[in-house]
Amino acid sequence: MTTFQQLESQEVVLRPMRDEQSDYERMGRWLSDERVLAFYGGRDHRMDAAGARKKYRPRTTGEESVNPCIIERFGEAVGYLQYYRVEDFAEYGLDDVDVDTWGVDLFVGEPRLWSTGLGSSALRLIVEHLFEECDAERIVIDPHVDNRRAIRAYEKCGFEKVKVLKDHEQHDGQWRDAWLMELRR
Ligand SMILES: CC(C)(COP(=O)(O)OP(=O)(O)OC[C@H]1O[C@@H](n2cnc3c(N)ncnc32)[C@H](O)[C@@H]1OP(=O)(O)O)[C@@H](O)C(=O)NCCC(=O)NCCS
Repeated sequence: MTTFQQLESQEVVLRPMRDEQSDYERMGRWLSDERVLAFYGGRDHRMDAAGARKKYRPRTTGEESVNPCIIERFGEAVGYLQYYRVEDFAEYGLDDVDVDTWGVDLFVGEPRLWSTGLGSSALRLIVEHLFEECDAERIVIDPHVDNRRAIRAYEKCGFEKVKVLKDHEQHDGQWRDAWLMELRR
């Protein structure tokens, strides 16, 4: 379960997602928006509030070891970020299992706010937390190769492309390649 009350910068606040209907509702709203699904999850994985509760409740209650967070800006919830210790190194084509490695996934759920710096601000907060408080040695992130906005946002935070992961994820019924990007402490 997420260990901080909240992380904040001038631009954004990152807080744990709560086991509350309001958080499941906003996730359901974002994850039924085709514009978001086109880049996160796929349009064939549309989710309403009940679906979001089913999927994310094991995370908000700590049953699953994925830490779910909500990104806020001026008190408004605007997106989602999750982080987790990587257990399956093969999934990322990594074999140096002695390197303490964490993964991050995120989206800004309000398309009107894309490319306004929120995603990279939220990512910077969790990067700092993982390196400073969790002794992470490496953080990985895996955008689709054609998600140029995401790749640019992650490069702004210092992530570097390592290799293409072929057929990494099924998305809208198709296997898609992704960049393995990493940031070392
Ligand atoms: C990916 C995402 C989290 C990034 O957050 P964000 O707040 O939009 O990102 P930022 O504004 O911090 O950075 C985006 C950068 O990409 C640039 N950009 C936008 N479209 C681009 C494109 N087609 N090609 C190249 N760069 C692009 C922006 O100009 C900006 O760079 P700049 O600050 O140098 O001008 C957000 O866009 C998002 O949620 N997208 C939809 C879901 C998604 O893709 N999730 C990630 C899955 S890996």
